[in-house]
Amino acid sequence: MVILVTGGTGYIGSHTVVELQKKGFEVIIADNLSNSSIDVVDNIAEITGTRPIFVKVDLSEPEPTKDLFNRYSDLKAVVHFAAYKAVGESVMQPLKYYRNNLGSLINILEEMETHGIRDMVFSSSCTVYGQPEKLPVTEEAPIKKALSPYGNTKQIAEEIISDVSKIASLQAILLRYFNPTGAHESALIGELPLGIPNNLMPYITQTAIGKREFLRVFGNNYNTPDGTAIRDYIHVVDIAQAHVIAIERMLDGKNKQKVEAFNLGTGIGYSVLDVIKSFERSTNEKLKYKFLERRPGDVEKVWADTELANRELGWKAQRGLDEMTLSAWNWEKRLAERMIDKK
Ligand code: WQD
Repeated sequence: MVILVTGGTGYIGSHTVVELQKKGFEVIIADNLSNSSIDVVDNIAEITGTRPIFVKVDLSEPEPTKDLFNRYSDLKAVVHFAAYKAVGESVMQPLKYYRNNLGSLINILEEMETHGIRDMVFSSSCTVYGQPEKLPVTEEAPIKKALSPYGNTKQIAEEIISDVSKIASLQAILLRYFNPTGAHESALIGELPLGIPNNLMPYITQTAIGKREFLRVFGNNYNTPDGTAIRDYIHVVDIAQAHVIAIERMLDGKNKQKVEAFNLGTGIGYSVLDVIKSFERSTNEKLKYKFLERRPGDVEKVWADTELANRELGWKAQRGLDEMTLSAWNWEKRLAERMIDKK
């Protein structure tokens, strides 16, 4: 069975390609390499022994997208990751985000319809909930006005998919990630932030390896036990495995609605200080950090109710925080070794 993974050289995409190949799927990666490296394809091949087909393509352009689907006419389903995802950048460049994230989705949905490809797994996000009134947050929680154009593209994308599914064969599973963290145990693939990392974990590992002077902890006066903000960190491999289950659910006709949404979290909220302590415990590294002002747009605390995914998908996160922090560190060290080799 051939699966198209858009954004498959990205962080979550590459881990999902590995899990799809392990389950026997043949994978075609479509990516424009705007936020990832072609080396990822070799690294995936080194992990699984099978090199995925790679097509460099800008999916926000209709013609190249049409060519892609015409060229690979035996596609069975699509896992759609390809999108820009820097929250801060989206505020400064909204049109770049609306054009790319929504344009790509629309082009892909049109081609799926043309080629009779019914099933899509869509990479969504807990940002659709904003700051939930009730915690843990369930899939029934109200979708709140997005705090950024990035978050808005996720909300609008979910609505586009839902609207199309009402009048076409399209069916979809929306996977709402909480905070993807960590790296594959091989340390051959991981989060590859180009430039200064927005996210907590790569900033921690870059501080520990000496690329950053200290970690800035954005706010320690939140209404939380230790004053720092709380998130539901979830290992990227757990997230990747959920994508395979979602694809199989639709291919096997087990989905109960044409569009289903599932939270992908652990159900456990950890504060920034909890993550720092876990990192120091799991790696024996001392981390330099300073408390600074809150970051605009941050929610105070959010963690998932995972009951629906546990029950319906038969999926539950297996990996704990220490495994996330240690695997992130191993990946950072491997990156540094490879940079030295390249010199
Ligand atoms: C986590 C916590 C920061 C960096 C995530 C994804 C984003 C989107 C929304 C995916 C927060 C604190 C961070 C730093 C810090 N989801 N922090 N110092 O904001 O929850 O966003 O969910 O589609 O793509 O990243 O994650 O890792 O940026 O922040 O103190 O240098 O760590 O304030 O409390 P966030 P994050």
